[in-house]
Amino acid sequence: MDFKIKSGNLAKAKTPCLILGVYDKRKLSAPAEEIDQVVGGALSALLHKGDLDGRVGTCLMAYDLPGVAAERVLLVGLGKRKEFDRGAYTKALAAVFGRLGDGRITDALFALPELPKDSDLYGAVRHGVLLAAYSAYRYTQTKEPAKDAPPALKGFDFWVADKAGAASAERAAAHGKAIAEGVALARDLGNLPGNICTPSYLAERAVKLGKHYDKLEVEVLDESDMEKLGMGALLSVSRGSREPARLILMHYKGDHKGSKKDDKPIVLVGKGLTFDAGGISIKPSEAMDEMKYDMAGGASVFGAMVAACELDLPIHVIGAVPASENLPDGAANKPGDIIKSLSGQTIEVLNTDAEGRLILCDTLTYVERFHPEVVLDMATLTGACIVALGRHPSGLFTSNDELANEIVDAGNAAADRVWRLPLWDDYQQQLDSNFADMANIGGRDGGAITAAAFLARYTKKYTWAHLDIAGTAWLSGKEKGATGRPVPLLSELLIRRSGIDR
Ligand code: BES
Ligand code: MN
Ligand code: ZN
Repeated sequence: MDFKIKSGNLAKAKTPCLILGVYDKRKLSAPAEEIDQVVGGALSALLHKGDLDGRVGTCLMAYDLPGVAAERVLLVGLGKRKEFDRGAYTKALAAVFGRLGDGRITDALFALPELPKDSDLYGAVRHGVLLAAYSAYRYTQTKEPAKDAPPALKGFDFWVADKAGAASAERAAAHGKAIAEGVALARDLGNLPGNICTPSYLAERAVKLGKHYDKLEVEVLDESDMEKLGMGALLSVSRGSREPARLILMHYKGDHKGSKKDDKPIVLVGKGLTFDAGGISIKPSEAMDEMKYDMAGGASVFGAMVAACELDLPIHVIGAVPASENLPDGAANKPGDIIKSLSGQTIEVLNTDAEGRLILCDTLTYVERFHPEVVLDMATLTGACIVALGRHPSGLFTSNDELANEIVDAGNAAADRVWRLPLWDDYQQQLDSNFADMANIGGRDGGAITAAAFLARYTKKYTWAHLDIAGTAWLSGKEKGATGRPVPLLSELLIRRSGIDR
């Protein structure tokens, strides 16, 4: 997809469709006002017929406006001027994309209205780019799009009033496009079925990325490597399936020599469980198909690495994705089994469905060797997180307040929000076991927190945060599919840490 920034005489802009905002009570946005002047009040006159009153997301297409170069003009309601915020902006754009699809229009110019009250120009343009790309995404890997399906958007340009801001808008468009590529990859991987997207498949995709991007080096550990290292927890999960596990390592090294930051990497760890049937503690069959997205944390690491490569960020990032299936068979973990993790700590497996923490704990120990600046892990870890927070924010866990604030801020800026939950030591006792150093579950109470508390026992040697993305990486129902979250958040964090201009 293509995103251009334009400014200058709006009436003369050639486009198949010019999009203008209208606030509640038919109040014109500034660019709409500009066009209304050119057409001698024809827009206002049209609105006074009552077809569009400016409520958020309502649309009206207008044709043949004299003196306007655009082939057609789409008026979109933005809601009350005083209440115009990123939420209203998002709704309005969603309606625009729906209307463009219905009209089979693939190229449009969006005249950016007054900024949403909670966004700056950079934020508004980047968010718009991400929404446009999100709407243009089509899953085509195992299904041809229907012949009569609305065509995907090809070009979505932004007209900005002030030339001075154009540079920042250009950066926003470029950043948005790069992040969107990461999001699309994460969505593709999350949507792929478990019989295609296996641990080896993920490893091959990583190797391909390594060939495509100069600054990305990919290394894949197989089960014999993991055996030698002593990754007993990870291997205990993959033993119950015929697909061998992989530990995928992606090293991205941007040009950051001379910057005061030394070589310490930001390490992103993502749960890459390519299908979670629960193991011997098997899940109910209802919606079990959706457990193909249990690798969404890993997919978000792929996506963030792509965004870093596309933006050529001057930072050092390492992605680590433990990939495995969790299935029941004769060699699978059994409730009561005791395994030994790479850290040396033993674990009593009371529920084989709490497997994510088992593949993560060995990876979290493994990444100590990189002397990380910070480690972030992303995982579809618990259904309990969905119960606690619903499906809007990801759950954030860390005992480091500064890091927590950094992640919360980045999530807000990227419209990919997180909500912090406690990670107090008080919860640790729920993991006590009579037979091992810890159990892998902590009972019904605070299930998302005890899962994080388990991981905390493996992350004492560095600064660390955990994101539970069970509720945010996937949509159920009619829009069933992967969302690509939290790629926008991770990308924002990397952009901020790299210190490049916004
Ligand atoms: N992958 C699941 C968590 C999950 C559930 C993600 C629903 C997305 C939607 C994880 O491996 C799991 O099964 N967790 C168990 C933990 C329990 C056994 C302590 C859960 O949430 O039920
Ligand atoms: Mn599970
Ligand atoms: Zn799982």
